[in-house]
Order: sequence, then structure tokens, then C-alpha cells
Amino acid sequence: MKNPVCWVVLTGISIAFIQQGLPVRSQGESQSDNKQMDNITIRQGETLFLSCSQGDFVTHTAWLNRSSILYAGEDKWSVDPRVSLVTLNQDEFTIKIEDVDLTDEGQYICAVQTSSRPRTTSVHIIVQVPPKIVNLSKDLVVNEGSNVTLMCLANGKPEPAIVWRMISASDDSLSSDNEVLEIPFISRYRAGVYECTAANDIAVDTQTVELTVNFPPSVSDGRDVGVTLGQRGVLLCEADAVPEADFEWYRDDRRIFNGFDGIEIEDDGGLSKLTFFNVSEADYGNYSCVAINKLGSANTSIVLYGPGAVQDGNSGTSTVFTPTCLLLIVLLHLLLKF
Ligand SMILES: *[C@@H]1O[C@H](CO)[C@@H](O)[C@H](O)[C@H]1NC(C)=O
Ligand SMILES: *[C@@H]1O[C@H](CO)[C@@H](O)[C@H](O)[C@H]1NC(C)=O
Ligand SMILES: *[C@@H]1O[C@H](CO)[C@@H](O)[C@H](O)[C@H]1NC(C)=O
Ligand SMILES: *[C@@H]1O[C@H](CO)[C@@H](O)[C@H](O)[C@H]1NC(C)=O
Ligand SMILES: *[C@@H]1O[C@H](CO)[C@@H](O)[C@H](O)[C@H]1NC(C)=O
Ligand SMILES: *[C@@H]1O[C@H](CO)[C@@H](O)[C@H](O)[C@H]1NC(C)=O
Ligand SMILES: *[C@@H]1O[C@H](CO)[C@@H](O)[C@H](O)[C@H]1NC(C)=O
Repeated sequence: MKNPVCWVVLTGISIAFIQQGLPVRSQGESQSDNKQMDNITIRQGETLFLSCSQGDFVTHTAWLNRSSILYAGEDKWSVDPRVSLVTLNQDEFTIKIEDVDLTDEGQYICAVQTSSRPRTTSVHIIVQVPPKIVNLSKDLVVNEGSNVTLMCLANGKPEPAIVWRMISASDDSLSSDNEVLEIPFISRYRAGVYECTAANDIAVDTQTVELTVNFPPSVSDGRDVGVTLGQRGVLLCEADAVPEADFEWYRDDRRIFNGFDGIEIEDDGGLSKLTFFNVSEADYGNYSCVAINKLGSANTSIVLYGPGAVQDGNSGTSTVFTPTCLLLIVLLHLLLKF
């Protein structure tokens, strides 16, 4: 009576009928008994237990994945090492599938042949996959005014929802509920770190993209500086630029370099500092600072003046003591000495 192949073929035929919703007859007598269990939802990577009840007079029993047999009684038919038998006794027939993957999704059927009639129990397995961002824009360097497109593609099941947002402090109004974030005519204020979040019922994946926006230098208006002879004098030049600006200093049309007699030029980020260690008469004059990066340049002029210098109306507004005032103080000082 033990003829598994024949029995399997019969079971296969029975199942084909079941799936067509037709009543299945065994030996032309009693009807089969088909049960649909609740769907089982499981996460990718977990272990799935498939269990069905047996009962008395069971002659054959099998677990099937779609139409292929995983186990026929104690005999393993599946070649998949992840599949193994857990329990087979009069009460239950349980197998397990380790490290479940998306391809394992689908209908599993427990087919039981009793002395009287066949019985099947089917269960639909749904595999969930945590979101994973698989294609993300690389960190980007663009020029101001470019149209920028950031892309974030993610896998997952259920299909993850994708959200883009800017996380740097300068502007958090920029976001998108989409795989694509488009920023037309990008401004320097939209440079920063952007975050893509892919979320579904089971988990969240987050990645960031850094966006650098290049722009040509702009230089703050120079503040004229009044210094008495023999004192230290410092001219400051401040520039805003990406990439950071290089600075050049000029006296009228003549370039001044660091290390010139009694002069030091120090650049620190967006700030350049020209220092006269000991201001002499010849140092008084009109200086200009030029800030340069690959996108352009900007300049401002700064006057270094001494006591008694006559200031143009259009500059020198920042000093606390006007030269005339300074002169008065000096004169007063001299008078008091006598
Ligand atoms: C089980 O899953 C299938 C396929 O996703 C679906 O069509 C069916 O409605 C689900 N049944 C239940 C009871 O959730
Ligand atoms: C179930 O069948 C599908 C399709 O043939 C296959 O890809 C998957 O690996 C099978 N799973 C198991 C656990 O046998
Ligand atoms: C990522 O997306 C871009 C744009 O759609 C495409 O050109 C590229 O081939 C994708 N890369 C991968 C690894 O999928
Ligand atoms: C940016 O997009 C606008 C339309 O949205 C287009 O007119 C313009 O030419 C684009 N600029 C660049 C540099 O591609
Ligand atoms: C500044 O220069 C003057 C003239 O060259 C010199 O007499 C004086 O000692 C210098 N002062 C300092 C502090 O170096
Ligand atoms: C300094 O020189 C610049 C040009 O090099 C000029 O535009 C500016 O008016 C000058 N400032 C003074 C106070 O002469
Ligand atoms: C300084 O800037 C003005 C415009 O703001 C420009 O005309 C001039 O050529 C610049 N000078 C230098 C030395 O770059």
C-alpha cells in the first residue's frame, strides 16, 4: 500500500481541483474537507512555523509550497536546507522554514489523507520586508542658480513611503513626500544636509545627502581705520563665499604680500587681516581687498589714516573719534602739559 509517488500524484490532482473551487471526491464517495487558515504575516529573516492538526486514521500527510511537496510525512522532499521537520505525531504535523524571504510568499497547503477522505488546510504567507534605501543621490556640489534634483529609491514591503526634508537649521520649509526632491534655481540658503526617510509598517530607513552650493564672493564694506604713528594698525576684510575666498590686498594698484616689511597678512576662513606692526607716515593711504573664488571676485577699499587726515564724506564713518576730534585731544594734552 505504501506508494508515495502514486499518492502524491493523486493529492496533486485533488489540490488542482480544490484550487478551482470544485468539490473533490475521493474514491467517488465522501467529499473532501478544505479549510483556509488566516493569513500569516511574517518578516523577512524570521522563522516560519507551519502547523496542521492530524487526527486518527491518517494514512498520509504532506506540507506543500504551491504544488511542490516540502514534506511527505517524515520524508523531506524539499532540497531547501532552511526547511525542516519540527513535529509529526497523531495530533500535529509542524514544519519550519528558517530565514524566510520574499520568494517564500504564497499559499502553503497541508494535505491529510485519512482512511475515509482527504482534507486540506491552506494558509497564505505574507512576507514583510523592512524599508531599505537602495538608490540615493550622492553628495552634491552645485553652483547657485542650478536646478537640483535629489533622488531616493527604497525597497520594502509594504511599499515604503518616502519623505525628503532639509535638516540644517537655515531652512526647514523644504520637503517632499516623494522619491524626488526638486529645487529649482537653488540659492545659497538651501545648502545643507537633506534627509530621506523610507518608512513602512515595520521599520524606517534614513539616509542623508549633503548639498553644497557654490557662489561668488561678496565683501562687507570696509571700515576705514585711524591709527597714530608708531602704533599697530589692523585692516579687516570679510567675505562670504563658497568655496572659501582667497584674498588679495592692494595699495592703490600695487599688490601687497605677507612678509612685506612690517606687514602681516593672515587669512582665516572668510576673514583677512592686514596688520601694520608700526604705522609710519608712508603707510597712510587707500587700500583695497579683493576676495576671489572660482566663481568670481568682489572688492572693497579701506583707508588707513592718521591724525589730521581729512576724510572724504563717503568713508570713515565707523571711527569713534574723528581725526579733527583726535587732533583737539592731542592739542589739549599738549596745552595741559605747560
Ligand atoms: C490573505 O492574503 C491574500 C493575498 O494577499 C488576500 O487576497 C486575502 O484577502 C487575505 N485574507 C485575509 C483574511 O486577510
Ligand atoms: C516556495 O516556492 C517558491 C516558488 O517556487 C520558491 O521560490 C520558494 O523558495 C519556496 N519556498 C520554500 C520554503 O520552499
Ligand atoms: C539610481 O537611479 C539613477 C536615476 O534613476 C539611475 O540612473 C541609476 O542607474 C540608479 N542606480 C542604481 C544602482 O539603481
Ligand atoms: C532650470 O529649470 C527651469 C525650468 O524649471 C529652466 O527654465 C532652466 O533653464 C533650468 N536651468 C538650468 C540651468 O538647467
Ligand atoms: C616704529 O618705527 C619708528 C620709525 O621707524 C621707530 O623709531 C620706532 O622705534 C618703531 N617703534 C616700534 C615699537 O618698533
Ligand atoms: C580708494 O580706491 C578705490 C579704487 O581703488 C576708489 O574707488 C575709492 O574711492 C578710493 N577711496 C578713497 C577714500 O580715495
Ligand atoms: C572692484 O569692484 C568693482 C565693482 O564693484 C569693479 O569694477 C572693479 O574692477 C573691482 N576691482 C578689482 C581690483 O577687482
